[in-house]
Amino acid sequence: MTTRPSYADPIHPGGITRGLETFDPGALGLPSERELASLAAGYFPEFRGERENEPAIYHPVVVPLGAPDVPYERPAFARGINERAYVGSVPLEDIRADFPILSEKMNGHQLIWLDNAATTQRPRQVIERLVRYYEHENSNVHRGAHTLAERSTDAFEEARAKAANFIGARDADEIIFVRGTTEGLNLVAYAFVKPLLRPGDEIILTLLEHHANIVPWQLIAEETGAVIRAAPVDDSGQIIIAEYARLFGPRTRFVSAAHVSNAIGTIAPVEEMIAIAHGHGVRVCIDGAQSVSHMPVDVKALDADFFVFSGHKIFGPNGIGAVYGKSDLLEAARPWQGGGNMIADVTFERTRYQRAPRKFEAGTGSIADAVGLGAAIDYVSAVGMENIAGYESNLLEYALSELAEIPGLTLVGSSARRAGAISFVLDGYSNEEAGRRLNEKGIAVRAGHHCAQPILRRLGREGTVRPSIAFYNTAGEIEALARALFDMVRLI
Ligand code: ALA
Repeated sequence: MTTRPSYADPIHPGGITRGLETFDPGALGLPSERELASLAAGYFPEFRGERENEPAIYHPVVVPLGAPDVPYERPAFARGINERAYVGSVPLEDIRADFPILSEKMNGHQLIWLDNAATTQRPRQVIERLVRYYEHENSNVHRGAHTLAERSTDAFEEARAKAANFIGARDADEIIFVRGTTEGLNLVAYAFVKPLLRPGDEIILTLLEHHANIVPWQLIAEETGAVIRAAPVDDSGQIIIAEYARLFGPRTRFVSAAHVSNAIGTIAPVEEMIAIAHGHGVRVCIDGAQSVSHMPVDVKALDADFFVFSGHKIFGPNGIGAVYGKSDLLEAARPWQGGGNMIADVTFERTRYQRAPRKFEAGTGSIADAVGLGAAIDYVSAVGMENIAGYESNLLEYALSELAEIPGLTLVGSSARRAGAISFVLDGYSNEEAGRRLNEKGIAVRAGHHCAQPILRRLGREGTVRPSIAFYNTAGEIEALARALFDMVRLI
């Protein structure tokens, strides 16, 4: 087993403080100030100690990136040095080697994938699992009287058990496979919530929602005469919990809320929000699309009634996602779509349905992709979600402190609890132009409204540039982003 080296820094034992927060350089594989000094000594003789064996004295290695009138100095980190970081006990370079696409070149540069909130990249373990499924196991599930049907059913149901275990469900039957978060939220809205609604009933959402957690509720509200109420956020982009609590009344029927904002990275206080809703006898669905790849999730500990996530946002295939629902709620709900697989018996007079989850899985689903999702869950579980959360938290703090130093860059959203995404605007550039310039340097980010217009408008923007991280990103990539942005700023 590989052990993680210690980067204890005698000068700043708590880590180097720059910008917003303290981050631990060692955790990102960055050199401590002392290591930086000895690196510098290797590159620049003038930084060496005067006598042989004398320890090098720390001098920041300053790279003058700015034009003379722009006071901007940043320490130079030796290229590639960050690759020695560990995520838990796994070397970052081993993780990166598992993701073939990270070796691609874009526009003559090494690809830097910082569009993880839109979709994540897939490790070869997931890609190979799909190949193995199609080469050795492909069949429809639950229906064949032959060996391949057994193999595919076993693989499919094993993936369901992995998904259940991953988010702390009590039972594999509490997991319904769907196409992704969008379909999952529509399923909860139509199968569970719509039948409860009468004119004037209320559904609570929050300002942080992705459009996928707004529009389905608007559709069922239109169809039933129900009303949507949105919990406000403060100027940092965090839910104002007292205001949220005030939205509850006798007509409140349901809450659906993002765990993590896809646009600005806020982690919502979902534990508290669920407890408040339950205090009013109201059920809650959590949109976990942007949380499951960044932090451990335990639906039992949260006491979420429903929890929805997508495979492609957690290093798994496209076209697959999962809805968790408490088993009594799933049993009580009507099916959403009708068809094969979800029925127990059909006559023209009356049809009996399978029990959940099959009741909600009409037709032939994306079987291989469910199996691939199981492989993705195995992958992140082997690295450890706690370890991923710890590494990413350091990387995010580092990114925020780097970006805060770019003249003319304004961060949008500043919640203290955050994960995944960072939004900003840059003086002199439209968001789209900034995205294009970064792409020219091989850096992939998203620019625009990120399918989350209400939160951006609340913070006074129609769009932003959004880099978003995953556990395979490195401090060197963040550095490259900051350098590219700084170079852009210098040009205007
Ligand atoms: N929901 C995805 C994003 O935030 C597509 O980019």
